[in-house]
Amino acid sequence: MDLLGKLQAILGTDGVLTEPADCAPFLADHLGRCQGRALGVAQPRSVSEVSQLLALCDAERIGVVPHGGNTGYCGGAIPDESGRQLVVSLRRMNRIRSVDVGNYSLTAEAGCVLAQVQAAAAEAARFFPLSIGSQGSCQIGGNLSTNAGGVNVLRYGMMRDLVLGLEVVLAGGRVLDGLSVLRKDNTGYDLKSLFLGAEGTLGIITAASLKLFPEIRMRATALAAVPDVRAAVTLLTELRAVSGDRVSSFELIPRVAIELTTRHIPGVSDPLPGAYSWYVLCELSSSRAAEPLDAVLEEALGAALEGGTVLDAVVVRSERERTALWKLRESIPPAQRHEGASLKHDISLPIAALADFVERAAGWIGAQVPDGRLVAYGHVGDGNLHFNLSQLPGTDRDRFLARTDSVRRGVHDLVREFGGSFSAEHGIGRTKVGELERYASPVELELMRAVKQALDPHDIMNPGKVLRSR
Ligand code: MLT
Ligand code: ZN
Repeated sequence: MDLLGKLQAILGTDGVLTEPADCAPFLADHLGRCQGRALGVAQPRSVSEVSQLLALCDAERIGVVPHGGNTGYCGGAIPDESGRQLVVSLRRMNRIRSVDVGNYSLTAEAGCVLAQVQAAAAEAARFFPLSIGSQGSCQIGGNLSTNAGGVNVLRYGMMRDLVLGLEVVLAGGRVLDGLSVLRKDNTGYDLKSLFLGAEGTLGIITAASLKLFPEIRMRATALAAVPDVRAAVTLLTELRAVSGDRVSSFELIPRVAIELTTRHIPGVSDPLPGAYSWYVLCELSSSRAAEPLDAVLEEALGAALEGGTVLDAVVVRSERERTALWKLRESIPPAQRHEGASLKHDISLPIAALADFVERAAGWIGAQVPDGRLVAYGHVGDGNLHFNLSQLPGTDRDRFLARTDSVRRGVHDLVREFGGSFSAEHGIGRTKVGELERYASPVELELMRAVKQALDPHDIMNPGKVLRSR
């Protein structure tokens, strides 16, 4: 029997896509930067099917590329150009297996869309805090495999921090049945941790037990104009102190992002009458309905206005106004795409170093990239900036993009000088393999390669992602 026949014997005839038109959406990333070829797209429905599939692929030395909602930024879900790899879409494994209200936990299959998990938690009067722009289409398996971050990390941590247990199928087909819902379990190595952020290079996550929290009953949201990044960081410290640490989101937005979103995205408007260099979108939240968060926020912003940390601010008065502020923030990446080509850097720094870094890096970019402008925004509360450059209108796209590597080198070397990371929340995928080789220490690389060798000796699990293929 040929490979397709064997795959169909496991998955059924409708379980493998081979027609070019059917496969096309799985072979290119949403940024249009990575394009691959594949033997086909497998669509298992159960752990047992994933297990049989990986046993077959291991025996036949077929590279397997796990694929979620295809919203990643590093090409991690896209096969290489060989045409010899098999994409494995988890989209048919999309059941919420259980919700345990008393244990504040939920078990979801990898193909569940993030919004579906959030909704299942809300139905049980619970809160699942992972929140990212692509939550209507990204899948939990991808969120786990890339250790996704987003806008609530400041309070709740990244995806890694929200996991109690995992079910993983290993190369060769063995199943690691680790769907524990325990909060305390000190029994040796934390195996689940290996698969979180591993981008499918060590196994395929098929389900996860996730932590839930009390539902949010009160929110206060504001947009504040600040003179500079230093003031933004100061404001965060002040807000955390006066609110009893109720700050759940704290996002930095530069003036240029307001210009891009109001220009390109229908329905986005400038929330403040004046124009300022920097803004922060901050949100306080609580599970206590009676908490006077609006008053706390207004008072804190008033004091910051007097002290010069804030130049102007608006506190939202309705859910509609809140949605509008968040729409502005979430529209920055698509607005950048409408503006033209971008050079993207997903960096993190110690919060205390952010202001000095931005000053140095902005100066360097001003001198080195005259046809680009800085669009630095993001999760300043986590020390994570999307330190992007947008091509200036009227400039040559190819000339701008030709600088990708040299600009990346300049930015990432500076990040290292300031003690930061070249990949805060977007992972390594296939586009940052060289960066990992450059910035990870020899010991780190040696350990990562040893783990890969131990779990995937035939290099069939997402080959060439995170680590270069042997
Ligand atoms: C965001 O925070 O908007 C995303 O991580 C996307 C980006 O890098 O543009
Ligand atoms: Zn982000």
